Amino acid sequence: MPNIDRSFLQIQSLGECLIQSPLEESEVRFVSDEEAVLLEREYTKLVEMQKTNGQIPVFEVAGPRRMLFHNPHWSKAAILTAGGLCPGLNNVIKSLTLALKSYGVPLVYGIPYGYAGLNPNCQTKPITLDRETVDDIHEQGGTILGSSRGAQDPVVMLETLVRMDINMLFCVGGDGTLRSAHAIAEEAAKRKLNISVIGIPKTIDNDISYMDRTFGFETAVYATNSVIVAAHNEAKGAYNGIGLIHVMGRDSGFIAAYAALANTHVNYCLVPEEKFNLEEGPNALLPHLMDRLARRKHAVIIVAEGAGQDLMAGEREIDKSGNVLHKNIGMFLKQKIKEYADAHHVEVNIKYFDPTYQIRGIPAIGADAVLCHLLAQNAVHAAMAGRTDMVIAQWGDGFTHVPIPVAVKERKKIDPNGTLWRSIRLGTWQ
Ligand code: F6P
Repeated sequence: MPNIDRSFLQIQSLGECLIQSPLEESEVRFVSDEEAVLLEREYTKLVEMQKTNGQIPVFEVAGPRRMLFHNPHWSKAAILTAGGLCPGLNNVIKSLTLALKSYGVPLVYGIPYGYAGLNPNCQTKPITLDRETVDDIHEQGGTILGSSRGAQDPVVMLETLVRMDINMLFCVGGDGTLRSAHAIAEEAAKRKLNISVIGIPKTIDNDISYMDRTFGFETAVYATNSVIVAAHNEAKGAYNGIGLIHVMGRDSGFIAAYAALANTHVNYCLVPEEKFNLEEGPNALLPHLMDRLARRKHAVIIVAEGAGQDLMAGEREIDKSGNVLHKNIGMFLKQKIKEYADAHHVEVNIKYFDPTYQIRGIPAIGADAVLCHLLAQNAVHAAMAGRTDMVIAQWGDGFTHVPIPVAVKERKKIDPNGTLWRSIRLGTWQ
């Protein structure tokens, strides 16, 4: 039996679980606290880790526990959604509510406009969520609770939770949201308050570490398909036509990369993780594009918002979440392609597509909706068992608990030497 290392991935617990779960053996498979999932899935790396550290890091397994920390019948839960929109937010709100109700939690609040709703100065009122109010919300895109960017004072937020007698807080959001959730959990720990703070990872950029996939990503990729088809048709419908598509992806280009693999009309996929030059050098985009136009008379380019930022001068603004607001690489490329083509006396017809918000303000589809449901159920199981300062993660074919500070330490990015990017290279210019 190898030595397993739980220290780095240790999940915070509020205390001993002394209350019998009201869930039935026939409804759920109870998970024991001893169950663990390997962090490293590659055999050779695993052996190496064992050799160097003498230990193998493992995640705590998500799922229902037989014994609970919080008494469900005496519990009050609150749910908030923060940051940019993402397909599936309403699915998560609904599934959290239903799971809490299955445990018998009498009161579930929806906090309006993210963390702002926990600040009394914002003058918003919580709403009550129950089976009726959430019944058909999964059919709608966006979030019925509203969202906002920006941190609030954790002391003020915690005081609101204490005033409302809330012992479980579910924060649905990306890394900024998770950092604020961590700040609340820390403040609660400092004051020895038994409040479970659980994150549900939301980012269509799919950029949170220690999880395979975040909800909304698949729907966003799926939604790029019709845009790529239109861009390809437009490109083919004109002499030297170019369909140029600008998608989200601040620091991680997963949407652009998966969209390019999902619809192989894409000839150029530009992401933040791989630098490129415009006119000169081995990675120069424009000469290659002119060469392709000479041969094929059309091209489709997909560019993630964070790509090629080094090519554009100027100060950058910061948004309320502390993220750098990028310059518009899509519009910049459109202009540079035209200038370069004109300088080389080449006629080009560029059709520009910017579906950034169009692919995220929509309801979740298929497997994404399933992911929302399972993440939410597992988040409720974790809270009931008194876990805190953690986020639910999909890992392999199961779900795990990840400490928030570990998940937000660094953003997940495409590995330019990994198989995903190599597949892009095989099919496109790269
Ligand atoms: O959630 C991350 C993201 O999709 C980024 O790629 C993008 O920069 C950001 O959202 C934009 O959201 P908003 O315009 O709402 O700030």
